[in-house]
Amino acid sequence: MSYYPEKDKANLWWRDGVIYQIYPRSFADTNGDGIGDLKGILSKLDYLSDLGVDALWLSPIYPSPDFDFGYDVSDYKNIDPKYGTLDDFGALVKEAHQRNIRIIVDLVLNHTSTEHPWFKEARKSKDNPYHDYYLWQDARGNGKVPNNWLSVFSNKTAWEYVEECGQYYYHMFVKEQADLNWRNPRVYEEMMSVFRFWAGQGVDGFRLDVFNMYFKDDQFRSNPWKFAIIPFDRQKHIHDCDRPEMDGVIRDIRKTVDEQPDSYVVGETFLSATDKVRRYCGEGKLKAAFNFSYTHCKWDAAAFRKLITEWEALGEEQIWPVYVMNNHDVTRSATRLGVGENDERLKVAAAMTILLRGTPVLYYGEEIGMRQTRLKRQDLMDPVGVYNWPFHRGRDGCRAPMQWNNQKNGGFSSGTAWNAVHPDYPERNVNAMLHDPKSLWTFYRDLIRLRKDNPVFQTGALQLIDRDNEFVLAFLRKTAEQTALVCLNFSQLSSKVNLKEVTDVERWGRKFSNLPEKISAPDHGILQLSGEQVLILFSR
Ligand code: GLC
Repeated sequence: MSYYPEKDKANLWWRDGVIYQIYPRSFADTNGDGIGDLKGILSKLDYLSDLGVDALWLSPIYPSPDFDFGYDVSDYKNIDPKYGTLDDFGALVKEAHQRNIRIIVDLVLNHTSTEHPWFKEARKSKDNPYHDYYLWQDARGNGKVPNNWLSVFSNKTAWEYVEECGQYYYHMFVKEQADLNWRNPRVYEEMMSVFRFWAGQGVDGFRLDVFNMYFKDDQFRSNPWKFAIIPFDRQKHIHDCDRPEMDGVIRDIRKTVDEQPDSYVVGETFLSATDKVRRYCGEGKLKAAFNFSYTHCKWDAAAFRKLITEWEALGEEQIWPVYVMNNHDVTRSATRLGVGENDERLKVAAAMTILLRGTPVLYYGEEIGMRQTRLKRQDLMDPVGVYNWPFHRGRDGCRAPMQWNNQKNGGFSSGTAWNAVHPDYPERNVNAMLHDPKSLWTFYRDLIRLRKDNPVFQTGALQLIDRDNEFVLAFLRKTAEQTALVCLNFSQLSSKVNLKEVTDVERWGRKFSNLPEKISAPDHGILQLSGEQVLILFSR
């Protein structure tokens, strides 16, 4: 039984297309306040359309005091004035749809800002009708915190005392993000109404922030301990994460999302592991869940092959993979994987992400190889960096302004940019790459086109070949009509691929490569690749 009834349908945008994540604060600023805005995104729709993306996932745009830069929401059904208005949002949706680009919003339903009107009421007293919207507990014994649960951001207790009502509230993230009580039917209904509200504004899909944490143990039992370096990792998170109640809520969310045809819902599985993807995705459940293993995998063909094998083992009919190299929480791949200013390796990574069986999710600036910026301690803004420096420098460095051109602030803003622009912007920017046939940008565009023009890269089955090859990741994509062979040389030196599993490959015609001048033909079942070469062959 397949999990999405539309499986055999042609043209499923979220399956066949490419999703592009925008961090609105850093994309394009039209009013000179140094912060990106919705009009800025609208002004770049033609750019995004030229790149060829099919959907935009917008990190939170709701009113927020920004203790966690938008992931602390103080009103679920509005736009923060720094980004614009609901009318601006409507205009963006309309213009995007005219270009056949879908909009996915980011729903942060595990917690609200402590400046949300619900929390402001909740903290007043135990009898307040909103008190039970959140997770409150009395002190245990002698003024002790209720249990051993920790905040993942501070690595300290997740409980914060409020004098007014004489209880502690629970927060998995910063203390300005109070976790909601999903067991309260009023909260549950409020949350479902958030989906309906945004569907009413024309959005096409939802990204669920840390959804597998919505429920916590109803007896508030302490987590068992285990050995690890970081305090948060010293616990087995069995009582504050992945509770059994999640299975019901996932189904209700899917039903709500399905009220609108063709809608999409993808979850951010917190503390993710591939087996959780199986639990939360499937028929009547989420359509997809992120797996972040790619974002901390070393540059090694065998290591990536292992991760791909794990995805594939989840079952072709059941799980539609989502491949992510970058997002607003991790060090940019160009810095993690890249070597100096050479972008060839990033082209290999791009071909892997875009041509595997699954949906690629790109992150703004990835297409021009934006590097991580490095901030001084006193300039850090992200609470993760502020709390954990020097062990973790925070996430500001992957949220730097988009580098559009070589003008002030890389063309991002005419004012003072909220976050440092990478100093390489005079050379590394969209303008400089757009018309260069050898640039990383052009290669991304060509790969996206290749995926669009060849259904084999959308729905085709995946078969890894030459599985013991140390340097080359090689795979076939197959439909009844067509087969494509993708060979990715992870090494800077030339390498060989053994094609004995591919019949007739000597006769295949069409080829595509990042190094077109270095394409060699298969000879006696062996294909020679130059260092960091992407080579794609088509059966016809
Ligand atoms: C998710 C988001 C991250 C945020 C956290 C709390 O992990 O991706 O940016 O800080 O949730 O909402």
